[in-house]
Amino acid sequence: MDRGEIKAKLMEYAARGQEVPRMDMIKTPEQIAGIREAGRLNKEVLDAVEHKIHVGMTTDEIDQIVYQYTVDHGGIPACLNYEGFPKSVCTSVNDVICHGIPDPHQVLRSGDIVNVDATTIYKGFVGDASRMFMLGNVPSERKNLVGVTKECLRRGMQNARGWVNTLGDIGAAIQSFAHKHGYSVVREFGGHGVGLSMHEDPFVSHVGKRGTGMLLVPGMVITIEPMINQGRPDLYIDSIDNWTVRTEDGKASAQWEHTILITEDEPEILSY
Ligand code: MF3
Ligand code: CO
Ligand code: CO
Repeated sequence: MDRGEIKAKLMEYAARGQEVPRMDMIKTPEQIAGIREAGRLNKEVLDAVEHKIHVGMTTDEIDQIVYQYTVDHGGIPACLNYEGFPKSVCTSVNDVICHGIPDPHQVLRSGDIVNVDATTIYKGFVGDASRMFMLGNVPSERKNLVGVTKECLRRGMQNARGWVNTLGDIGAAIQSFAHKHGYSVVREFGGHGVGLSMHEDPFVSHVGKRGTGMLLVPGMVITIEPMINQGRPDLYIDSIDNWTVRTEDGKASAQWEHTILITEDEPEILSY
């Protein structure tokens, strides 16, 4: 389908009251090719971290791996100086939900779970993904949280077919699976359009109702990045660094993220 045909189809949906994406949320084939390359480099950055992460290492050393691998391969770490963020990657340990700042004094210990969230600019295009790492001997409750959160991402992706699903279907799938396991879902932060810059429209909530919200359309590029808490969903932002987001109850939180291309079938993962 060319852009003219897509536009006509979107106008039909809109006339029937369906919320639809703006045409600028639907990427061109050239843009998609560029984002795919950025997503591949971003994946390799996370692979480099996965290869080297170990108990006793500091989160600042993770930052150094991300910075070095990215620039050595022609990329730019998108987080560095983003709205004043001081490092190249987010490292969120245990009760940190997201936006943890790598720190030379923060040593990873056995039993820790850490999310490493990298965003890479390559030839002007952007890929964004994160993974959980489990260090040493992790208690089974934390392992379970990490596994359920990964499955939440998978179910979100399964419910993201172009011309079939809406944003509400993604949120509903994630929310119901998390709740079934006794976990809560963070609402204040979510996924987003991505590709030409780090954060684009639309906002992708990880809670929702089936059939509600914006229609997903082939060519959209979004992230899904559920943040799932072991305890309550409530959070606070560190008042000293103004970035670190923590659970209010101090219990653990996990997150996995992919950049995906909406297609007429299940989405293509661009951050593999
Ligand atoms: N990678 C994050 C996301 O998934 C955003 C990073 S915030 C920054 O949206 F400040 F570190 F850049
Ligand atoms: Co991210
Ligand atoms: Co993201």
